[in-house]
Amino acid sequence: MPTYRTKVSERIRLPSRTEREEALETAGYNVFNVDADDVYIDLLTDSGTGAMSDEQWAALHRGDESYAGSSSFERLESAVRDVMGFPQVVPAHQGRGAENVLYGSLVDEGDVVLNNTHFDTTRAHVANQGARPVDCPVDGARDPTARGGQFDGNFSIDRAREIVDDVGTDAIPAVVLTITNNSAAGQPVSVSNTREVARFAAEIDATFVIDACRFAENAYFVSEREDEFDDATVAEIAREQLGYADALVMSGKKDGLVNVGGFVATDDDDLYQACKHRAILYEGFPTYGGMAGRDMEALAVGLREAVEAAYVADRVEQVRQFGERLADDGVPVYEPIGGHAVYIDAAAALPQIPADEFPGQALVCECYLEGGVRGVELGSFAFPDADRPELVRLAVPRRTYGPAHFDHVAETVRSVFEDHESVRGLRLASDPPIPELRHFTAELEPVPTTTPSTTSTE
Ligand code: F0G
Repeated sequence: MPTYRTKVSERIRLPSRTEREEALETAGYNVFNVDADDVYIDLLTDSGTGAMSDEQWAALHRGDESYAGSSSFERLESAVRDVMGFPQVVPAHQGRGAENVLYGSLVDEGDVVLNNTHFDTTRAHVANQGARPVDCPVDGARDPTARGGQFDGNFSIDRAREIVDDVGTDAIPAVVLTITNNSAAGQPVSVSNTREVARFAAEIDATFVIDACRFAENAYFVSEREDEFDDATVAEIAREQLGYADALVMSGKKDGLVNVGGFVATDDDDLYQACKHRAILYEGFPTYGGMAGRDMEALAVGLREAVEAAYVADRVEQVRQFGERLADDGVPVYEPIGGHAVYIDAAAALPQIPADEFPGQALVCECYLEGGVRGVELGSFAFPDADRPELVRLAVPRRTYGPAHFDHVAETVRSVFEDHESVRGLRLASDPPIPELRHFTAELEPVPTTTPSTTSTE
């Protein structure tokens, strides 16, 4: 049952089919280029797109915008201490700002960083330090057809030991656990795996970092699936799981329930000092670090709300019900359903479209044309050189959409899926300079139904 009601409404509009066709063509068949006003249900991301509570809006007014010693920073610090258990906090403008502060302080050229699966910005920040990001997912984590286990987000210690055999322990300054594992369909990580990773990191003398973006959703899965925590609250589980880390890196735009903001938190004084000084260079003075005082207030309240049992149960169940409905309709989705999004296996949904014609992107475009629904491709268009499944992610903003919206999305996806043979592949029409980032800006065009003659006219 919902545990909130609507106090402020925002008008949304389903543009006509003709308007949608025009918008998509103008956007070069890339939904990142479509105006938000032309989108009806926006499932591009769950990051920074949720609704704040009345308590958070009220807290905004208390924002202390002092450059130094802001009391809003103190309230953020005490929320991080209470909810996550860490005494020292370096705020940043969002998650990737915090990643720059943390990995810039921890990682040197030639190093190797291990992670259950690096999220894109994490990978980029590690690489930016001249280091090598290496993923250690468990078997089946990226296989949408594995219909796998309860904790497919886990970190594979066996894989990590192979890397250690290869590069030695001195080359590995940090071991990272991303909870939930966004790049493995939002699957959770168990507390027992967290303990093993902590032991492993201690053994090789590496800093154990948790990317805690979706820590509350992860704790909810633990409460359901890990016997040891049958009687524990989500708040207790979160404290316990995060407590094994030496440092947290956080995007407040997810389980901080705010539209912008992030931080690094640690109980290691040397690391804190290093992060604090790097933050001054890249983010701001340590008592605001890239955030407005008012935003730190909203984040302080949001962190406490995120571990409230009623909130997080409603959140994860909404995503699950939506995903299971698609599965019941025969749409090939990654199961079990993850915490923040439903992932569709586009290669299975559109078998007639080969990988070099971007089946995921074709599916994203078709969902927009069919129902004004915006998702995101996470396959061969977004990751040109990686061996990834052709996934489309429908990410669910927090406290934003209700059952009628999900009925519409499910109907849209079902009707695209039923009529899948008419969907055409796409090809690149522009070539942005950085291939890893091409999916944000590249333009595409439908592959013609008949291939034009290639005879030379010279
Ligand atoms: N880590 C993870 C696991 C993330 O999912 C994200 C962002 C970040 C770090 C970076 O945080 O956006 O605040 O700079 N994920 C968003 C997404 C963008 O759509 O999944 P940020």
